[in-house]
Amino acid sequence: MSGAALERQVRRATGAFRDRTGRQPDGVWAAPGRVNLIGEHTDYNDGFVLPIAIDRHVVVAMGSRTERTIRLWSLQQADVVEIGLDDVGPGVVRGWGAYPAGVAWALRRDGIDVPGHDLVVDGSVPVASGLSSSAALECAVAAGLVELAGADIDRSALALVAQRAEVESVGMPCGVMDQMASVLCRAGHALHLDARSLWVGHVPFEPTREGLALVIVDTRATRRLVQGMYAERRAECDAAAESIGVSTLRDASLERLEDARARLGARLYRRARHVVTENDRVRAFVEDLHSGAWLSLGPLLTSSHESLRDDFEVSSPELDEAADAALAVGALGARMTGAGFGGCAIALAPMPLVDKIVAEVEAAFARRSFRAPEAFTVVAVDGARRVDR
Ligand code: GLA
Repeated sequence: MSGAALERQVRRATGAFRDRTGRQPDGVWAAPGRVNLIGEHTDYNDGFVLPIAIDRHVVVAMGSRTERTIRLWSLQQADVVEIGLDDVGPGVVRGWGAYPAGVAWALRRDGIDVPGHDLVVDGSVPVASGLSSSAALECAVAAGLVELAGADIDRSALALVAQRAEVESVGMPCGVMDQMASVLCRAGHALHLDARSLWVGHVPFEPTREGLALVIVDTRATRRLVQGMYAERRAECDAAAESIGVSTLRDASLERLEDARARLGARLYRRARHVVTENDRVRAFVEDLHSGAWLSLGPLLTSSHESLRDDFEVSSPELDEAADAALAVGALGARMTGAGFGGCAIALAPMPLVDKIVAEVEAAFARRSFRAPEAFTVVAVDGARRVDR
């Protein structure tokens, strides 16, 4: 999706704000969705991830108001949310409004004097697809509210506020990857993040320069159970770390895993093996990108998928089919991305093969009577920012 698409969203959100409130917004902010190249289910184990921000955005037009109330509209949702600023708290607002309201609450808990405000959302990140539409919404709102409050916090702190909104206000026990990606990513780069220290490196990632494309296949399979299964995996990882004798699986190694194998039992052993090998794959992927060894990236993607499917058990028949079909017609590598249990797969492929890959994935889905998938290519864009000037 082009810069023109973002400009259209800015115009739409601004116009809708004017229609609903009768005044101009104080500003318009945008934050992108993300896709994780590699490093899945590693962030809450203090490990490494490598997402890019994608050219799909949540745009938010905002204006402060003198009344101590919040009014929220979304061009993609029918319901309007109106709530007193002092009444906002975990579990109070349900549905999509919990994300922006949660950000206001998290900022206020940090001592930032968020004013009453009106806000209109226009999103182009597919919702509930594992492309972090919720993080994009949180981060766009956080960037705007900080400015409306006249506060100044650094970019990582902004991402952490957005994450806290999701964990505490919405109740999804996510790690830091999505919000860090939505705020800190840079165009043409992947974000190499150490989820323990929050150190970040920006690794050049421009597959088109190599004649390659990053294809996203949205399986459009309903992602039920994600929250519960995600929490279960987190608990399993914590139990595995304890049994191995490390504070988090970031500190485990294959040798220590073998030593603890009997204590761990088969299931926790496999969960831990995924995390340990996945952290190694992130390291290898980053090294390959730095040295321009693009062809080596494919096998890393594919082994990540196998590990998520067999050891971590978070894939789904649709995700497996998407990855297999892409590989069958020449993708260099393919894997599920995000939390799993549905959502999206990615494939890295020579540009001339993209249409063939999309056609094959569609045909494979039809053969198995899956819902028709949606496939598109993405490029790496900048993180959250003000977009009306
Ligand atoms: C979700 C979470 C992230 C991360 C991924 C899995 O997207 O929000 O923090 O744990 O799942 O890698």
